[in-house]
Amino acid sequence: MMQLRAQSVEIKSPREIAIMREVGRLAADTLSKVGAMIRPGLSTQEINDFVHADTVRKSARPAPLNYRGFPRSVCTSRNEVVCHGIPSREEILRDGDIINVDVTHVFQGFHGDTSATFYVGKPAADAVHVTEVARRCLELGIGAVRPGGRLGDVGAAIQYFAEAEGCSVVTAFVGHGIGREFHEEPKVCHIGVQGKGMRLRPGMTFTIEPMINLGVPEVEILDDEWTAVTADGSLSAQFEHTLLVTSDGVEILTPREGLLENSEIFPNYFSLRAK
Ligand code: MF3
Ligand code: CO
Ligand code: CO
Repeated sequence: MMQLRAQSVEIKSPREIAIMREVGRLAADTLSKVGAMIRPGLSTQEINDFVHADTVRKSARPAPLNYRGFPRSVCTSRNEVVCHGIPSREEILRDGDIINVDVTHVFQGFHGDTSATFYVGKPAADAVHVTEVARRCLELGIGAVRPGGRLGDVGAAIQYFAEAEGCSVVTAFVGHGIGREFHEEPKVCHIGVQGKGMRLRPGMTFTIEPMINLGVPEVEILDDEWTAVTADGSLSAQFEHTLLVTSDGVEILTPREGLLENSEIFPNYFSLRAK
């Protein structure tokens, strides 16, 4: 057969990249502040209300709100929730929970998308394991991004590590190109084969956001039509950054103070850190 249909992946201009850098930092700042407020007794609605207020205070807009009918300004995904959890007054954080908060801002027409999984109080060893594996998977995925490299390098790095650690990688949801649109081409699969997949070029902007499960990789969608949970009820964790392929590597457009926020109880779980 002939070659595959070319995907329309945008190359961002220096001007566009400057705005992507700005919106990325705004989103990351909001996420950092969320990390500092996580504690037992907080409702996920309170997280939502904080994110909404902090976003508009920055003259940005929370991209999730009304996105394909999503009813809140942020996704909050606790324990066995894989992604797209809907904040609620009834959902109260309890000691030992893990919770992913996924913040996406729109600013001057461009999106910045980033998430982290936080510990509530002191979680058990299995919760720490899946969270730290997910954190490391994002770092390894980012480490595989380089101009001339392939998207398969990213998926392969994530899959190899997650599976070696006894976890599974969700394939029902993927990372994505990002820019003027929340979700653009390419799709960034979190499993893959080194040397395969789309070639990466300077000026591409996309997310890497591995969802890592302790049990099976399959998900189910709840009746609210958004909340994705693990099919076996096992714990799931996720971290996300928005990235730029540069002429000599990769730039994290959503950087925070360290990548180990709210995990100071386990600072040496892995010795390796992303740059
Ligand atoms: N922020 C999610 C992502 O990383 C998408 C959330 S869509 C929403 O792609 F509608 F649930 F907000
Ligand atoms: Co995303
Ligand atoms: Co996101």
